[in-house]
Amino acid sequence: MTTSKHNILITGGAGFIGSHVVRLFVNKYPDYHIVNLDKLTYAGNLANLSDIEDQPNYTFVRADICDFDTICQLLPQYKIDGIIHLAAESHVDRSIKDPFTFARTNVMGTLSLLQAARLYWESLPERYENKRFYHISTDEVYGALEMTCPEGRTSEISAHEVYGDDFFRETTKYCPHSPYSASKASSDHFVRAFHDTYGMPTIVTNCSNNYGPYQFPEKLIPLFINNIRHRKPLPVYGKGENVRDWLYVEDHARAIDTIFHHGIIAETYNIGGFNEWKNIDIIRVLIKTVDRLLGRTEGEDLNLITYVTDRAGHDMRYAIDSTKLKRELGWQPSLQFEEGIEKTVKWYLDNQEWMDNVTSGDYQKYYDDMYSNK
Ligand code: NAD
Ligand code: DAU
Repeated sequence: MTTSKHNILITGGAGFIGSHVVRLFVNKYPDYHIVNLDKLTYAGNLANLSDIEDQPNYTFVRADICDFDTICQLLPQYKIDGIIHLAAESHVDRSIKDPFTFARTNVMGTLSLLQAARLYWESLPERYENKRFYHISTDEVYGALEMTCPEGRTSEISAHEVYGDDFFRETTKYCPHSPYSASKASSDHFVRAFHDTYGMPTIVTNCSNNYGPYQFPEKLIPLFINNIRHRKPLPVYGKGENVRDWLYVEDHARAIDTIFHHGIIAETYNIGGFNEWKNIDIIRVLIKTVDRLLGRTEGEDLNLITYVTDRAGHDMRYAIDSTKLKRELGWQPSLQFEEGIEKTVKWYLDNQEWMDNVTSGDYQKYYDDMYSNK
């Protein structure tokens, strides 16, 4: 896709990753019109975008991706030629308690967007020319990798360590285990089916765990930073031995920018940081970093670690091989983990008001009042 003028619909732009993608596109492409469509669930917060909300090339629309009629009306209204689809229910623990919501939003919502885009684009004289439907997915669709390397990292930040001799590649067979990953896998299949059946220009990317500012504090890193600050217990699932591959969220947003513009239609790209960590090691780093930044004795809060019952169906290890993306499109992570984690901890400590708002749900009441008056 060229970088001439575009009208891009970004779904889920008020969430964690979406807000970074919206910010990047609004600031980097003043000629584009960026329409952020978000339902503003508990995870969506417009405060994440307060710095760009008045930009002339930005519009926010509160809508549900499952609302097919509304999507069908919005696409021609804004002459949308590119869709970057991030809206989803994203938390594995919630999916274990309430799988229906995940099937509704992640599967039916994605299908609703695909069908609305198909009907609109096929109605135009140029049809799919210079159009793009870019679906953001997760490495969790691939299932779980084995831990074949007995040597673990110590609690210190050190060079990248590999916990097994296998990685998720673009060719890895889908094998989702949680209702969340099953719903994402299903949505990925629908996206590819729309390319194969209707010729829609689609791209799918599968990314590893993101970290950074504006992540809802139900996820490991922001939850634990906040708990350490308030000296609350840190609920470590199982033995804390599970491994995740962490990528700074702005690096993911840069990858999305690169792939949206230069990715090959119908291709899949894996995005990851080659940055594997056992949960317990990352937790120790978080404790030391928070303690240091708050002027406490480094490590004095290690006693907050509390081992709890494991997550049902807890995937052991995720590790992405993103060499295709580096080789074909030249993307690679820009931030070292040391720098990323320091920035992240500092951001949460400096933004206690944001944290208080999202944990109290105050922002939610504010949106509901604001939008019910319209
Ligand atoms: P998030 O939960 O922080 O944000 C999701 C956003 O989607 C919220 O703003 C929410 O209001 C919106 N939303 C939810 N249901 C909606 C609906 N029915 N209609 C419209 N909007 C709706 O999620 P995130 O962590 O930013 O993840 C974004 C995307 O990236 C998801 O598709 C997720 O599967 C994928 N992903 C996330 C990670 C990660 O580590 N967080 C890694 C890889 C892929
Ligand atoms: O891999 C990409 C995925 O990463 C995304 O698709 C998901 O949307 C995102 O939520 C994330 O999923 P995880 O389940 O890996 O992230 P979470 O932060 O929930 O958990 C990270 C690890 O920490 C996981 O092994 C479970 C563990 N954990 C998590 C929480 C919230 C704990 O031990 N205790 C906790 O309280």
